Amino acid sequence: MEKNRPIGIFDSGVGGLTVAKAIAELLPAESFIYFGDTRHAPYGDKASHTIREYSQRISRFLVAQNCKAIVIACNSASAAAYEQLCADFPNIPIINVIDPAVKYIAQSEASKVGIIATRATVRSKVYAQRISAANQNLTVVQKATPLLAPLIEEGFAGTDVSKGALAHYLNHSSLKKLSDLILGCTHYPLLEEEIAAYLGPKVRVLNSAKLAAQALQGVLASQDLLSTSVDAGKRRFYVSEKTPAFTKIAKMFFGQEIRLEEKFLKS
Ligand code: DGL
Repeated sequence: MEKNRPIGIFDSGVGGLTVAKAIAELLPAESFIYFGDTRHAPYGDKASHTIREYSQRISRFLVAQNCKAIVIACNSASAAAYEQLCADFPNIPIINVIDPAVKYIAQSEASKVGIIATRATVRSKVYAQRISAANQNLTVVQKATPLLAPLIEEGFAGTDVSKGALAHYLNHSSLKKLSDLILGCTHYPLLEEEIAAYLGPKVRVLNSAKLAAQALQGVLASQDLLSTSVDAGKRRFYVSEKTPAFTKIAKMFFGQEIRLEEKFLKS
């Protein structure tokens, strides 16, 4: 049935599993196909045209798998490839992880918004431009925090290593007196509590994975595409290169054991 087709979710690697997890929690009846481009990860330091090309390749695969919607569960790919994918696949809803956070900020009582993300996302200025376009009165500052994603992948979240790295980045003068901080990278929800504790109660920390899951729910509902299944959705997890390290960290990001299948996509 149309509505019970899977959702396609993709990321540069396993970090997008934080978005897949948020989707599984909010929409348990939905089936999904996750694709992590571990062969080409990380995207965060790559050129925009390269990220676009990889994103197009993965999206073609997901559409060929009969997906009813695509979630770009990667901030770097959302920044570099969203418009291109909308142009390539005009008949399928495409959700990115940036716009839901922008919308939330624009409707909230924010004053100074910080964004921490990969170099590719910061370089694109997509968050900053969209937030300013939505509300000119907001001050927006962004900071690349490239050490955080590898640190999380190596299992150092919640240790002195993450505390030191966060203090180094968040103590920056540009990030003083924030009202909000957007976690602009798929990996950062794993540091959410530490970041919130470091910044204190006056700063709201926004988890873009959860906001993207809510946006997906809204889009599916508005297009009458929500699953009508009464069973839990079926989930498949593909990666373009499977290694023992990815298998281990996949569990950390998704919060439960999952079986990764290797799938090589031809260009
Ligand atoms: N998924 C990426 C993002 O959200 C982080 C990891 C990477 O650099 O590939 O930007």
